[in-house]
Amino acid sequence: MIFDTHAHYDSEQFDEDRDSLLESMSDGGVGMIVNSCASIEDFDKTIALMEKYPFVYGAVGVHPDDAELMTEETLARVREMARLEKAVSIGEIGLDYYWHKEAHEHEVQKKMFRAQMDIAEEEKMPFMIHSREAAQDTLEIVKEYMKNRKMSGGIIHCFSYGKEIAREYLEMGLYLGVGGVVTFNNARKLKEVVEYAPITQLLLETDCPYLSPVPFRGKRNTSLNLNYVVDAIAEIKGMAREEVIEITENNAKRVFHII
Ligand code: NI
Repeated sequence: MIFDTHAHYDSEQFDEDRDSLLESMSDGGVGMIVNSCASIEDFDKTIALMEKYPFVYGAVGVHPDDAELMTEETLARVREMARLEKAVSIGEIGLDYYWHKEAHEHEVQKKMFRAQMDIAEEEKMPFMIHSREAAQDTLEIVKEYMKNRKMSGGIIHCFSYGKEIAREYLEMGLYLGVGGVVTFNNARKLKEVVEYAPITQLLLETDCPYLSPVPFRGKRNTSLNLNYVVDAIAEIKGMAREEVIEITENNAKRVFHII
């Protein structure tokens, strides 16, 4: 079944129908979901979702947007949450230079990115990275960790760079998250990456409520729409859609250490 490796069901955009929607997942072919924390306020909401739904797991961490709000206490909380039974990843963490252009912001983001990579190492959990318009700095930090530290693997979520950058991550044995963008007409770069990357290193993800695939582009996204992403990947790879679903599900279970 489809494994959505990155969703935000804690978002208020799901307040009206969260329960009925999540209850419809299995009928829609979706077997497992990792809900990713972004802000500090998401921690408790993600825990509640993990407790309520057997098929919902959690990624725990703080998005670069909130790097400046982080304290030692926040980091302690991330570590504490990482030890929950259904926490499977440290994320989403990383660098965002699209929304934050000042050098001092970049320094804080890097510091908090590294601090959370340290937690991933120490708690033996895969990292889940958000990287936007920060290709070189992200790559540099990931390389440093993959080379000198004992990391438990990781994911570049919503991969948005080209083949050259993809190659670097793939050679380190990391996974690339692919979502609705792959169905967009103007997504030539991502389509090339999907064609190039081994299917054994690709993951399905929605980032819902954001990034709906065509034909729902611009509307609220849900994991059920991953069927369109599967079709797009199957077409690019010349594979059957069942094969795409099965292999990416196995990839997700492998990276998250879910048996
Ligand atoms: Ni996200």
